[in-house]
Amino acid sequence: MLGFCPVSSIIRGVSLLLFDKEFDKEFDREFRGSRLNTDPNKTINVGICGLGTVGGGTLSLLENNRADIEAKLGCSIEVTRVATRTLRPEVIAAFSGAGTDLFDVVNDPDVDIVVETVGGFDPAFELVKTALSNGKHVVTANKALIAERGNELFPVAEANGVTLAFESAVAGGIPIIKALREGLAANRIDSLAGIINGTGNFILTEMTDKQSQFEGVLKEAQDLGYAEADPAFDIEGTDAAHKLTIMASIAFGIPLQFDKTYTEGISHIEPEDILYAGELGCVIKHLGIARRSEKGVEMRVHPALIEKSRLLGNVHGVGNAVVVHGNEVGSTLYSGPGAGAGATASAVVADLIDIARQIQAGASTPFIPALGYCRENEGLEVLSIDEIESEYYLRILVSDVVGVLAGISGKLEKLAISIEAVIQKEAAGNLASIVILTHSALESQLNIAIAEIEAMDEVSGAVKRIRVAGFED
Ligand code: HSE
Repeated sequence: MLGFCPVSSIIRGVSLLLFDKEFDKEFDREFRGSRLNTDPNKTINVGICGLGTVGGGTLSLLENNRADIEAKLGCSIEVTRVATRTLRPEVIAAFSGAGTDLFDVVNDPDVDIVVETVGGFDPAFELVKTALSNGKHVVTANKALIAERGNELFPVAEANGVTLAFESAVAGGIPIIKALREGLAANRIDSLAGIINGTGNFILTEMTDKQSQFEGVLKEAQDLGYAEADPAFDIEGTDAAHKLTIMASIAFGIPLQFDKTYTEGISHIEPEDILYAGELGCVIKHLGIARRSEKGVEMRVHPALIEKSRLLGNVHGVGNAVVVHGNEVGSTLYSGPGAGAGATASAVVADLIDIARQIQAGASTPFIPALGYCRENEGLEVLSIDEIESEYYLRILVSDVVGVLAGISGKLEKLAISIEAVIQKEAAGNLASIVILTHSALESQLNIAIAEIEAMDEVSGAVKRIRVAGFED
């Protein structure tokens, strides 16, 4: 090849190469660093309230990745104050400022950013409010606090020109808040759906794959640091409802409305439901679904059958995943570990880095609204669960007598609910389990049908109802 190349163009190529190198050096000198206005001697002081799984994980991460974080930031982040209700000897040894009074952290004039990893409302609400009122930025992993009291706290942050950051509150290590609020800001978001409780997904995965018993798996999830202090929050859906409330608020520009989020947990899922779902080509997952339509906004958390072949059907263990549909981008998927020290601390420290950059840049106020919107989307009402449409799995225990299936299908037919599939299995005694998969129906109509079926002489106990995941991924 060289033989055909004129000497003049080789010389020109070499000089361009040299010029490029000189240019790079010049660029480095002139722009890198100075353009970002970084002060390498600056230290951002952090105070941590609570040293449980997340607070402890944050301390370790800051230490383990110190060099990398400093290189990205151009200055250092130091934890200068910690307070925890139970003070262990190694904490006392590591921090001269360690104590048990959490308010000492938020009132310390030298602390720039407070990390709140205490959880719950009391004293977390007062801690965060005091820190914000004192002009300190706050990073919190507390989804209950944001979902239920965020409408009160964000205005305090705004009034004081500081940031209240909460990436770690939703889906552990997945940067879903940033994705919804910033990465997809150009879109009108139509829907999002996901597995957003790691403990619940861990339990359902173990029950499906290993036929494990609910209680044993829950204990394992607690030992691994996945579960909430009160694990009822995980298994009864409250934790997922907090996270869905936060995501829906950002996605649709509506106020945080936890009280309007329909919440159902996984404690009523029995091994036979998992078995029948499998026979129908599905797995059972605990989902959070938020969708907007002309009728209003749906916000619901409940177990759902989902085909084994679908994306969310293949998220296992403590994994979380969220599918977001934007009107321009289409469907996007975010997945990763949803709980545990490292994953959650990864999101806490990302928020710390964001705020440290803001401090470094000398920004007097945050430039991104906390929930992504400057003006709320008025007129978007949250629908009640009765107003949603879904396909349903119904499991009915019946006396094994002639005509019972015809009786049940007659009740459904009368309400224009059509049947997609039926499984019938013998149960103990003279009983049989009938499993029905319906086509799409209005929940209020299905409730009438269920009440009528339960009133039949041949039917024992309550009808088990599980919704079928009805969104695209
Ligand atoms: N208990 C929560 C979960 C922790 O299992 O998802 C992370 O938010």
